[in-house]
Amino acid sequence: TYVVTDACIRCKYMDCVEVCPVDCFYEGENMLVINPNECIDCGVCEPECPAEAILPDTEGGNEKWLELNATFSSQWPNITRKKDSPADADEFKGKDGKYDEYFS
Ligand code: SF4
Ligand code: F3S
Repeated sequence: TYVVTDACIRCKYMDCVEVCPVDCFYEGENMLVINPNECIDCGVCEPECPAEAILPDTEGGNEKWLELNATFSSQWPNITRKKDSPADADEFKGKDGKYDEYFS
């Protein structure tokens, strides 16, 4: 499966949802997540994300993101269409420490 990482937080560009063939993205207030049980591992979303927030879960250190994606995809609503990104999205692109700020 692929997973959305903390790089998505407060960016939410949503280009990813437009290309996913199985509509497995779920929307939280500050980020999106992928449902690991629905993702078919096609990989087309990875290069679409301007924030480079999407990675395969097989990359080292991504267990934390897999867990976060699994947990929140069962709680948040499905999203299949791109909406307007936050007005200040670009200010948060590539910023460090977003996870600690928004998830603890
Ligand atoms: Fe959707 Fe493919 Fe990305 Fe999985 S890898 S979330 S199936 S676009
Ligand atoms: Fe987030 Fe990138 Fe999608 S910023 S909403 S994972 S296009």
